[in-house]
Parts: sequence; C-alpha cells; structure tokens
Amino acid sequence: MTQTFLVTGAAGFIGSHSVEWLLARNQRVVGVDNLRTGRLENLEVARSSRAFEWVLADACDEAVMRALFEQHRFAGVLHLAALVSVPESFREPALNYRLNLAAADCIARLCLEFKCKRLVFASSAAVYGTYATLPNQESAIPQPQSPYAAAKLAAEVMLLGYAASYALEAVCLRYFNVYGPRQDPSSPYSGVLSIFTDRFQGGLPAIVYGDGEQTRDFISVRDVARANGEALIQTHAMADCYNVCTGCGISLNQVLTVYRGLFPDAPPDEYTTARIGDIRHSRGNPEKLRNILGFSAQIPFKQGLHELVLGERAANSEIRA
Ligand code: UD1
Repeated sequence: MTQTFLVTGAAGFIGSHSVEWLLARNQRVVGVDNLRTGRLENLEVARSSRAFEWVLADACDEAVMRALFEQHRFAGVLHLAALVSVPESFREPALNYRLNLAAADCIARLCLEFKCKRLVFASSAAVYGTYATLPNQESAIPQPQSPYAAAKLAAEVMLLGYAASYALEAVCLRYFNVYGPRQDPSSPYSGVLSIFTDRFQGGLPAIVYGDGEQTRDFISVRDVARANGEALIQTHAMADCYNVCTGCGISLNQVLTVYRGLFPDAPPDEYTTARIGDIRHSRGNPEKLRNILGFSAQIPFKQGLHELVLGERAANSEIRA
C-alpha cells in the first residue's frame, strides 16, 4: 500500500538514504530540510522521483510544519533533523536545545493533533555515556555526557511520555557509529571513516588518536536507512528505545587493514595521543530491534567500506572477485 511519509532532515547523510529506501518501496515522501548541515546534492536521486516532494524549511517552524501535516495527513514521520555535532552542542547549548529537543516536541505534538500515529526518532548511542557496561543494553541507566546526548535523551523521554499518554507510537532509534556515502568529512569530529576515506583519497596518511585498539560498532548507512524504513512501515513496531547496531566491535587497526587493501600505496598511518574523553570500546546489543522488527544489520564491514570508497556497484564486483 502506498502511503505518504514525512522525513525531516531529508537532505542529510542518513536522511537522504532513508528517503531513497522509502521511494524504492513505492512510498510517497515529503522531505523537509533547512540545509544547515544537509546538502541538496544528497537528494539528487530522490528529486528525480515524482513520489518525492522537497520542502526547504526548518523542522522547528511550527506553522510551516502544521501546514504540511494539514495538507498531507502523513502515515508516519521520520524525524532526523538535528544539530548533529557533539562539539557544537557544547558551544551552542541553546541551539542544541531548540534543534534536538524542542523540534522533536513540536513534531510529536503535530503528530498527536493530526492523528499521525507513528513517529520514528533519531536518537544516539551517545545517551549511554562513557562508563556504560558492554554491550550497551537499552535497559541501562543512561549517562549523557554532552548537551547533545542530554537533548537526545530528553527527547526520548518526552516522546515516550506522549506515547504513554496518547496513541503515539514513538520509536526511538539509538544509532551507533553510522558510516557510508555522503557523510561529511570536513570537521575533525566527523565520523572517523569519512575522515580516513577523505585522507586516503587525497594521498594523505590516516591519523590515529591513541593505539588504534579502540573499537566501535560501525553500521552502514544502508542498514540504518532500512531500520528507519521498517520502523516507519511495520504495523507492529512498539513505542520504546532500540539500538541500531551490528553487535560487533571493530578496532581502528582492523579498519586500517581493510583500507590497506583498497589503498596499497597510501603513506604509513600516523599514531598520535588519544583524544581526551575518547571512549575505549563501544558496542550495542542488537536483540531488542531484532525481536520487534526482525531487523539485523546485513552489510558486513568490509563490504560497507568498499561501497564507501568505490561506490556500490564497483564494490560488489571487487568483493566477488
Ligand atoms: C561518537 C560521536 C561523537 C560523540 C561520541 C560519544 C560520531 C561521528 N561521533 O564518537 O560526537 O561524542 O560518539 O558518544 O558519531 N579517530 C581517529 N582519527 C580520526 C578521527 C577519529 O583515530 O581522524 C578515532 C577517535 O579518537 C575515536 C574513533 O576514531 O577513538 C571513532 O571516532 P568518531 O568517528 O569521532 O566516533 P566516536 O568516538 O564513537
């Protein structure tokens, strides 16, 4: 059945892949983005589809968003619009509050007003904090250690409070380390794989903070887009928080071995002091989302990294060879 979904943050890294997933399943999408960090180029594929409507707007602009809800009667909302940089949330706490908490509240209230039952919210593994036991389990007591993580957690609490009070199916997805095409490498705090890819492609060495034995639960943006889409579409998804992760930890040194295969002539990696506050190991438990949606990550790390560096088609033939 074809339905219409609202995606906020549609021009972002995760947003644009999620929009494409929905369009490929014959759904109609209204994509909103203020282009603060999103890029219109990311929507090139989506904008060639008649099932996609592009709206340049801020998800916090209640009047504009209300007009969209009035016009479309959405079957579900994927709310990805956010202030995405943790360091920026320290510098601009008021903006962090507006973009990461107030916007989610505004969208949730519009869902209630217009009887749009399903709201999928982009949360983050950052809510667990540095000292959580591994693998991170949704039942753990969250320990946010940045304004960013605090706002994501507060938004989860608001949305689940609405879910308990009204008929809102708020599905909060805690993303782990997402990587893939269209991730912006331009800040030192960008995702490490976007930075490494950018440097290797420019003939520069990777710079490793620490000994490279720190591990992360890296998940491909294509798997994340599928998790978002399933959470929107599947009728039996229940209001709660869910990890979006693979369940596997991969060290930076293992990551660099895969890069070596792709860039055999790259200069030697450079090791420098570890970042203050860096987490040593991060890994999620994927069981809860698997139980509710049947979702598990399908793209093995090596394939995902090949796709990032070579593009999807080239990566498939390279891996088969
Ligand atoms: C992620 C968030 C970060 C947040 C943290 C806590 C992303 C992109 N970052 O950080 O904002 O504060 O979770 O929840 O989601 N590294 C290098 N060389 C580089 C870049 C990074 O060695 O050029 C290292 C980092 O020191 C870190 C690892 O790579 O040990 C991963 O870094 P990053 O991609 O920033 O992710 P997180 O540290 O998990």
